[in-house]
Amino acid sequence: MSTRILLYTGKGGVGKTSIAASTASLLSSRGKKTLVISTDPAHSLGDAFGTEIGAVPLKIAENLFGQEISVNEAINSHWAELKGYLTGLFQSQGLDPVSAEEIATLPGFDEAAQLLYLLEYYEGKKYDDIIIDSAPTGESLKLLSFPEAMTWYMDKIFPVGRLAAKLVRPVMNTIGPMPMPNDEVFKSVERLYSALRKIRDVLTNSNISTIRLVTNPDRMSFNETKRAYTYLLLYGYPVDSIFVNKIYQENTGNFFSGWRNAQEEIIKGIDYSFSDLNIFKIPLLNSEPIGFEKLREMGGRIYGMNDPDKIFKKGSNVEFTKEKGKYFVKFKLPFADKKDMNIYNKGGELILELGNWKRVLYLPAAYVDKNPIGAEFINGYLNIEMK
Ligand SMILES: Nc1ncnc2c1ncn2[C@@H]1O[C@H](COP(=O)(O)OP(=O)(O)OP(=O)(O)O)[C@@H](O)[C@H]1O
Ligand SMILES: [Mg+2]
Repeated sequence: MSTRILLYTGKGGVGKTSIAASTASLLSSRGKKTLVISTDPAHSLGDAFGTEIGAVPLKIAENLFGQEISVNEAINSHWAELKGYLTGLFQSQGLDPVSAEEIATLPGFDEAAQLLYLLEYYEGKKYDDIIIDSAPTGESLKLLSFPEAMTWYMDKIFPVGRLAAKLVRPVMNTIGPMPMPNDEVFKSVERLYSALRKIRDVLTNSNISTIRLVTNPDRMSFNETKRAYTYLLLYGYPVDSIFVNKIYQENTGNFFSGWRNAQEEIIKGIDYSFSDLNIFKIPLLNSEPIGFEKLREMGGRIYGMNDPDKIFKKGSNVEFTKEKGKYFVKFKLPFADKKDMNIYNKGGELILELGNWKRVLYLPAAYVDKNPIGAEFINGYLNIEMK
């Protein structure tokens, strides 16, 4: 079996790190070679295990390795050429040479660094499971939408092909002071481009990757989770489960009875709204789950006899169907509102815009020259008619 990738995301503080760490602990104790990595710049994986975890994978326990990704480290070790290009570019503009620290603050570098590490570990085939403890929702969505946004941008604007580079370079050189990158730099940009395409394929392949939502039974996390789910499906990511964490148990006393009732109401809403996902319910424990043993125990409580890396639900989020001579694109988007959406065909790509997010769907041949003429929501699916 090839490596499985499990990514845990959700609102701040709901228990992503604890659940990712307990999943990793349980997997490793059951004999799976497991790497747990934190992509949250405010790392707390080390705190969860009660040990120091560094910028390279370190052994935490038998079969268990951990890493807290550092973008500076990634830039220094992975991107010497790109750094060279950026330095040259900055200098040509009369700016001081850039340091790795400054490059690290450029938009997109965090995301790119994390994704490159992930691809490296996936392709290295050293681990049975890679568990990702990710940053709170907004940042995770930025990370997951990055490959598509970036490759789209590079496709359209940056002349990636070597041939194109050769054609463009003389023109660029006559236009202005901006230096065209040399062959080395082009090679590294090409590598980045193909790596991003690959990692997107890996992360959207439901046989390999699974995204898991973590929430608490309160109104605000519930709402954020619904939005996150919609955006994840919009980007074609396979989500199989939701983890409802920190549920008050019976006999918590009078003070908490109001909270318990409120939680019960929200849990009913979660059961209803996420009935297509596997729902894990986790009690509020009587102490913080810190350290390998407690985490492993928590993992056992969550998954029971199930394999934590099992695919609890499989299926594609997009379907192209033809009914009675009419062409449809069916898109699973359970919590979106049609009035917030903008849908159009642009050069054979179906563009779906929802708020600030945009998904580009490459249309199959039969759909390339068809335009959306109507859309309606049926049972959580956006049915787009194409003509
Ligand atoms: N089921 C639980 N019972 C008791 N304490 C818990 C439980 N789950 C998590 N905690 C505690 O809640 C706190 C927040 O958990 P955690 O750090 O895992 O959340 P997070 O979603 O990763 O937060 P952040 O968004 O800051 O990364 C921690 O102190 C953790 O030990
Ligand atoms: Mg965390």
